[in-house]
Amino acid sequence: MSHIQIAIDGPSGSGKSSLSRRVAAKMGIVYVDTGALYRTIGYYARGCGISLAEIDKVVGVLDDIHIEVKFENGGQSVYLNGENLGDKIRENEISMYASAVAKVPAVRAFLLDVQKDIANTNSVIMDGRDIGTVILPNADVKIFMSASIEARARRRCAELEEKGMPASYEEILSDIIARDKQDSEREIAPAVAAPDAIHFDNSERGFEESLEALIKLIEDTLASKNISL
Ligand code: DC
Repeated sequence: MSHIQIAIDGPSGSGKSSLSRRVAAKMGIVYVDTGALYRTIGYYARGCGISLAEIDKVVGVLDDIHIEVKFENGGQSVYLNGENLGDKIRENEISMYASAVAKVPAVRAFLLDVQKDIANTNSVIMDGRDIGTVILPNADVKIFMSASIEARARRRCAELEEKGMPASYEEILSDIIARDKQDSEREIAPAVAAPDAIHFDNSERGFEESLEALIKLIEDTLASKNISL
């Protein structure tokens, strides 16, 4: 049986990760959070003292980075040189670092095989910014998720608060605006919807309602292609 590939793209706070995680559990497939990989490189770059203004210097330290992704306890863990970074990569400052390193072609090339290998060996729902366009261009289902900028900032705020890393709504809102611009206007693999992606806006829906709608969308799309799990 071949592996199922579900690609979920969209900006920060659109609900990609929390919804994808639940879809994966329901369908018995693996949830892959690719943003965590860029966050890991961003975390390493910051640790090397590389500033956002000179982020291209990250190319010089890529050889020192070994990333391993493990699926354990029903979730994904990213190991950086043997250390499980856990929530250290979730800090607000790391979001900007992740977005900055993600513009660097050598970083994207570095992470390409890691992502493709996971999809070649598992049925996946993979979320990110270029999954439907670059990583899994032949995905069985492609969804571009969005929500209003205010709804997204509110969700990010709640998420950081819950993780014990609170940041102000204003700071998060301005970071989201800066990140959206940087991610969607970069030259390589810009964060845009694949031409064949289904658009899914969940600004007005609560979580459970969004989840139900998303599962139905995925099931209907797979059924229309005669694909079963
Ligand atoms: O999904 P996230 O917010 O954790 O992602 C952090 C940053 O990583 C995001 O601002 C852009 C970058 N990213 C990317 O360029 N491509 C991906 N597939 C995933 C994330």
